[in-house]
Amino acid sequence: MNYRHAFHAGNFGDCVKHTVLVWLIRALQRKPAPIFVLDTHAGGGRYDLERGPAARTGEWQKGIARLLDHPPPALGDYVGVVQQVGLYPGSPMIVRALLRPDDRLACCELHPEDAAELRQSFPRDRQVAVHHRDAWEALGALLPPKERRGLVLIDPPFEDKQEFAELAKGLAVGHAHFGNGVFAAWYPIKQRAPVRQFLSDVRDSGIRDVVTVELCLREPVDAARLNGCGLLVINPPYRFEQEVVPILDALLARLGDREPGEYASISRIADE
Ligand SMILES: C[S@@+](CC[C@H](N)C(=O)[O-])C[C@H]1O[C@@H](n2cnc3c(N)ncnc32)[C@H](O)[C@@H]1O
Repeated sequence: MNYRHAFHAGNFGDCVKHTVLVWLIRALQRKPAPIFVLDTHAGGGRYDLERGPAARTGEWQKGIARLLDHPPPALGDYVGVVQQVGLYPGSPMIVRALLRPDDRLACCELHPEDAAELRQSFPRDRQVAVHHRDAWEALGALLPPKERRGLVLIDPPFEDKQEFAELAKGLAVGHAHFGNGVFAAWYPIKQRAPVRQFLSDVRDSGIRDVVTVELCLREPVDAARLNGCGLLVINPPYRFEQEVVPILDALLARLGDREPGEYASISRIADE
């Protein structure tokens, strides 16, 4: 396990993932019944962008730094949460900032240092459980939740090529346990072929009601670069496909450098 999210915190991939995450949680909270959120690959919780690993890579300069100044209305909710937390919030902190008193969050993180940091971020918090455990195993063990409604965020590090196949398998396991849950799985777009195979694997699994949102900053041809990223969403809440359009457009307008091949898209992979 070499991946440390601290090097990448606040980059454009985080901005895409976290804006959609905020929208999904708000959408689930349109109904008063409590929700459960499972963050399978939670990371360290919050990140100082001015010092340490994030400052060394500077990736956030092409990410969240471009959104903070007069954010467009479509990004206002997400940027507001970032400003409220202070240090750049990872997914668990973003979710925590949005929880209502009866909602719950469970986070899994396998790296011992990140898991320890995460625990320290939620002292005596009865709404948050931090598990130092394997994400793929947790999808079977922690689902379905007693609330019977909620969101599962799956955000693997993509350190090796098998992770697309592992993600497709994990989605099938999670969905088998929590068929009406909303699932959001982040994936990198370095080249098209692995993404195509992943989407075909999800389609072949028979899971219904699947949509992808993608933001690509350039033609995805150079396998050594994170050219774009996507989120695959199962059981998207009502009006997802309409309401995420202005969010993606606003992200592309701020994060794109007008390179050939840039795009933002929403595609339906499987019907309801
Ligand atoms: C991309 S980062 C997560 C970032 C976080 N979701 C966010 O948005 O702020 C992936 C994390 O997964 C952790 N990880 C890797 N393999 C794991 C596994 N099998 N189970 C749980 N966590 C794992 C890594 O240590 C890393 O912190």
